[in-house]
Amino acid sequence: MTPGSKLALRREYDIVLMGATGYTGALIAEHIATNLPTDLKWAISGTSRSKLEHLAEKLTKFGDRIQPAIEVVSVEDGVRLASIIGQARVCISAVLYSLAGEQIVRACVEERTDYVDCASTPVIIQAWIRKYHDKARKNKVALIHACGASIAPLDLMVWLAAREIDEKWSLKIRDVTLRLDEINTNISGGTLRSIIGHAALAPKLVKETQSPSALCPVTHTGEPSAIAGVHHNPSLGWLAASSLTADQDRALIYRTWGLLQDTDNSYGPSFSFNEYEKASSVLGGLGLFLRSYLIAFIMSLARIPFLRNFVISRTPAAGSGPDAEAAKSVPVSMEATAVADERGSLGSKSPKIADVKFLYPNGYYPVTALFMAQAAASLLFKRRLEGNITGGCLTPAILGSDFVERTQSVGVQWTVQLQDS
Ligand SMILES: NC(=O)c1ccc[n+]([C@@H]2O[C@H](COP(=O)([O-])OP(=O)(O)OC[C@H]3O[C@@H](n4cnc5c(N)ncnc54)[C@H](OP(=O)(O)O)[C@@H]3O)[C@@H](O)[C@H]2O)c1
Repeated sequence: MTPGSKLALRREYDIVLMGATGYTGALIAEHIATNLPTDLKWAISGTSRSKLEHLAEKLTKFGDRIQPAIEVVSVEDGVRLASIIGQARVCISAVLYSLAGEQIVRACVEERTDYVDCASTPVIIQAWIRKYHDKARKNKVALIHACGASIAPLDLMVWLAAREIDEKWSLKIRDVTLRLDEINTNISGGTLRSIIGHAALAPKLVKETQSPSALCPVTHTGEPSAIAGVHHNPSLGWLAASSLTADQDRALIYRTWGLLQDTDNSYGPSFSFNEYEKASSVLGGLGLFLRSYLIAFIMSLARIPFLRNFVISRTPAAGSGPDAEAAKSVPVSMEATAVADERGSLGSKSPKIADVKFLYPNGYYPVTALFMAQAAASLLFKRRLEGNITGGCLTPAILGSDFVERTQSVGVQWTVQLQDS
């Protein structure tokens, strides 16, 4: 399906937003109402009519535009779900993915509706890849996974570094080192439920699905190259290998690498990615390790059913999370340095490097909403997928430059600097 195809034009909605009454879903709805064209035909969907009507009422304050239709459905009602998704050109899913995610993915593949989510758990994404990637490719449906704040900026920073190095020096990339500046501690009820659900999984399964090639269409043969402990990087300062998300983020970024392998947009055969946390000093880095061990220990308690059920019973209801001020209070920022792969090229004296910075000043959930809505807009209005890909289980970077430009136009700051001295 391409924008403007007969199939796409016959559909009643440009976008349907599933899970609109959730914490993230409501922010996505607000972003759409504030930033997408006023003649956009869209629908908000969830299980509760009263919650949807309340949201629709709030959305009227965002001005003179086509207001969203209300579609009440629970994902257990497969026939109605398919009929709603089949009326839309793009579906955004902001439901709890472990409970209600798969039914929506399946309906999108069958109804040939492009799709965006912010699922970032490799266990879930690997299961979807195994079940739906081939059919989505055959049906030319783009399923953009992991399009939230936890993965999309990282994935796009690597993609930007690869593009800039290719354009400037006609080289592929080798090692990418990324520094996370803050971890988001202001979390929503849905995120907390996802974290608890993930922590309760068997450690062996989690480890397997986070291995470098677990989500990759081809095997990544590079040796693990993360530097253990605390070290100093000339561009990025003190770094601690204490990030609890480093392995899962690498697995998703290697999926992008694998999807682009053998295309004009390939990162190259020597690509590797390592993620660290920003440390103030060696001592500060040790403090980050202590914090990570403590969080990992607390999360391991979720494997005890009694404790897990107790915590879940006290988790805030769907739709709850930090208030608007708190949600915006912590900027999302990170920086990466990518080294060009010059092995095989003659006469190189100093490494050629791309430094990429990402900054969104107004918080983790607002930028997740921004990414999800703008990814949907990119699929709707442009649908230019990298590497001439036409469909499948994909990653945010596959939306390429159109996606980067759209996020930039609504407040994301991307900075790229090239150095070869
Ligand atoms: N990776 C990232 O960067 C990132 C960032 C933000 C969020 N997330 C993920 O996004 C997901 C949503 O988080 P949240 O905090 O927004 O969750 P939430 O507030 O609990 O909202 C969940 C939504 O799912 C809907 N839902 C639940 N069961 C359903 C069913 N059977 N059929 C249809 N809809 C159903 C709920 O609808 P009702 O209200 O009608 O029950 C609600 O709208 C979580 O998995 C979270 O981990 C990821």
